[in-house]
Amino acid sequence: MSKTKKILALAATGIFALSLASCASDSGSTGGGEAAAGGDCNVGISMPTRSLERWINDGEQLKALLEDADCTVDLQYADNKTDQQISQIQNQVAGGSKILVVAAVDGQVLAPVLAEAKKQDATIIAYDRLINGTPDVDYYATFDNYKVGQLQGQFIESELDLANATGPISIEPFAGSPDDNNAKFFFSGAWDVLLPYVESGVLVVPSGQSPASNDDWASIGIQGWASDKAQSEMDNRLSSFYTGGDKVDVVLSPNDSLAIGIEASLKSAGYAPGADYPIITGQDADKANVKAILDGEQSMTVWKDTRTLGEQVFTMIQEIQAGDDVTVNDTETYDNGEKVVPSFLLDPEVVVKDDVQSKLIDSGFIKASDVGL
Ligand code: BGC
Repeated sequence: MSKTKKILALAATGIFALSLASCASDSGSTGGGEAAAGGDCNVGISMPTRSLERWINDGEQLKALLEDADCTVDLQYADNKTDQQISQIQNQVAGGSKILVVAAVDGQVLAPVLAEAKKQDATIIAYDRLINGTPDVDYYATFDNYKVGQLQGQFIESELDLANATGPISIEPFAGSPDDNNAKFFFSGAWDVLLPYVESGVLVVPSGQSPASNDDWASIGIQGWASDKAQSEMDNRLSSFYTGGDKVDVVLSPNDSLAIGIEASLKSAGYAPGADYPIITGQDADKANVKAILDGEQSMTVWKDTRTLGEQVFTMIQEIQAGDDVTVNDTETYDNGEKVVPSFLLDPEVVVKDDVQSKLIDSGFIKASDVGL
């Protein structure tokens, strides 16, 4: 950073500190101050659903960080409904939110509401999921979504030593919700590792649910990331294609909510942890899935420490408030059809049974008692 830029950055940080200080005193006063409670620091957070543990943690954590900095925060959950999310965002803008943090239910449909928000000078941060088809997304903060899938594919590859295997090893691939921009990145990361083994016959897909290329990923997508839909899809595959003692060896599940459904299906089809139990991947380190990992019902999860995502978005908001350059580390990957959105990508990591204590519990991400330890 040049000296001038440093001074500007410091001055801007000072302004931010002052504006936060004024928020603090205003929020305690009964009126008269020039700024409303929260002053300029007024943030609307729009999360997709409370039905998944991660979004509850994401929302609460970011809200707490912002409120500690005396920002006014409106945190809403959209119950996985697009219309609900749109009206919640409209209300936030009408209520004075100048920064919107949005984890989209459907990444394709928010352009009009974001255009309205832009007219009110809002800055828009896409949280975890990209929002497509709009020039109005200013920044994107997420984990490296391609890498999430790659870690799942590489896990399967190394567990089965695919490079030296002859097969045939049976695999059932699943993909995430077709309306979630992340889902294609997860699938592509995994399929780039696994498809060559499908093509060479080392891996076989008895159900035929095997996308010929990454572009076909949505054909095996599970709408809304719903556990019950994953479960019934797995029930169908098992009852139609695994008859006469055939066993499935691997299930590529893009996340933990699908894995939970798939595991329930396996259980009701008589699979039990042990030699014949398939490898199953996941993502998120949800408590139920960590428990499943400890119990041998799930092989791994890709852990995204969502606390670091919240902190990164908090940093972005501070930088925006300060009029400073916003820190990003990727300006190439996330083209939303209108622009390449400047992004900050965080690193996901694999968690297996032996890592639960050291990575998840020791870091405070989950409590030992949450997973029966
Ligand atoms: C998130 C995942 C999550 C999934 C379902 C994705 O956009 O990146 O962490 O498992 O949505 O909520």
